[in-house]
Amino acid sequence: MSIRPLSLDEIKKMEKACRLAAETLLYVGKLIRVGMTTDEIDKIVYDYTLTKGAIPAPLGYHGFPKSVCTSINNVVCHGIPDQTALKEGDIINVDVTSKLDGFFGDTSKTFCVGVVGAEVLDLVEAARLAMEKGIEAITPYGMTGDIGFEINKFVTRKGYTTVKEIGGHGVGRTFHEEPFVPSWGKKGKGDKLIPFHCITVEPMVNQGREEVIEKPIQGSSIKYYETKDLKLSAQFEHTVLVTDTGYEILTLA
Ligand code: MF3
Ligand code: CO
Ligand code: CO
Repeated sequence: MSIRPLSLDEIKKMEKACRLAAETLLYVGKLIRVGMTTDEIDKIVYDYTLTKGAIPAPLGYHGFPKSVCTSINNVVCHGIPDQTALKEGDIINVDVTSKLDGFFGDTSKTFCVGVVGAEVLDLVEAARLAMEKGIEAITPYGMTGDIGFEINKFVTRKGYTTVKEIGGHGVGRTFHEEPFVPSWGKKGKGDKLIPFHCITVEPMVNQGREEVIEKPIQGSSIKYYETKDLKLSAQFEHTVLVTDTGYEILTLA
């Protein structure tokens, strides 16, 4: 692993990119309602981001066609905005990545559309808490396995499953960099967490089985994923700075 820690100046830029991503997600999240299409979400994110002098990082990333990922119900991640309208009772993960002054901030939330069932709410809340448990496991020179262990322990106790083959990542000067941050693993295993490097914690939590199906995106080398059993999947994501004493969540609005 070759990680070059961020300088103080670079950390300031990361803070700005991450705050913008969080503000964008807050802004678009408040507008989500029954009948809205995911293309409308895409346009809101695109316009808001450009207004703030930033670039929506997904747009054109390895050929990804839109400015944001919108993953509804059984779509695990990398859902592509289109003419699909949101229905009462749906859940939708909106994943925003802003590139500002050369730095990337990456954050997502799962929103409930109108009124959802109690089991659905429980899954969404479990995904949010799983992310928090993972973040709380971050220590300087700790391991990525510490994070994954806590996430998977919590999710398993709740009766849900974590997606194994996709997860968090280093982020900063580039969108996706080392290390891989799994949502499962063993304490003390994996890669070392380096102070003044940023990672994302973004567990994907499945209502049923952990297996996912990989689907192609036309014109792109990015894949999107669905649950194999077609049950729901929920996800939350923050970009977090590892510090010399602990961590700091950067994607707060
Ligand atoms: N934001 C996603 C993540 O959390 C990555 C999306 S890549 C895209 O890592 F190309 F699908 F936008
Ligand atoms: Co990410
Ligand atoms: Co993301």
